[in-house]
Amino acid sequence: MLKGLVDAMEKMIGKVSDFAEGSGKMVAVDGKAVAVFNIDGKLFAVDELCTHAHGPLHEGSVENYAVECPWHGSRFDLKSGRVVQGPARNPVSTYKVVIKGQEVFLDI
Ligand code: FES
Repeated sequence: MLKGLVDAMEKMIGKVSDFAEGSGKMVAVDGKAVAVFNIDGKLFAVDELCTHAHGPLHEGSVENYAVECPWHGSRFDLKSGRVVQGPARNPVSTYKVVIKGQEVFLDI
C-alpha cells in the first residue's frame, strides 16, 4: 500500500540513453522544468531555473558536481542544491532520480 503511494510520485522522464554523459538536459514534469545532469554515469536533478534571475541551468557547465549558471555565473551543488558561488543567494531544489532497468524516473 505504502509502496504504491511512493511509486505514484515517481514520474518517468526518459531512458538512461537519453541523458548523455557530461551534459545537462531539461525535462518537464507536471509543468515544472527540471535540469537533469549525467555526471560520471550518475544522474542528478535540480530546478531548471537559477534562483538569481531564472537562467537556464541545463545549459550550464558542470565542474566538481556543481553546475554554473550560463547567465551570471552562480554555481549550485548538484547533490544538495546549495549555492557554491553567487550572485545567487538561494539554493535550488534537488530531486531524487530513480533508475529502473533502462527507464529513468524523477521522485517529485
Ligand atoms: S540568472 Fe543565474 S546567475 Fe544570474
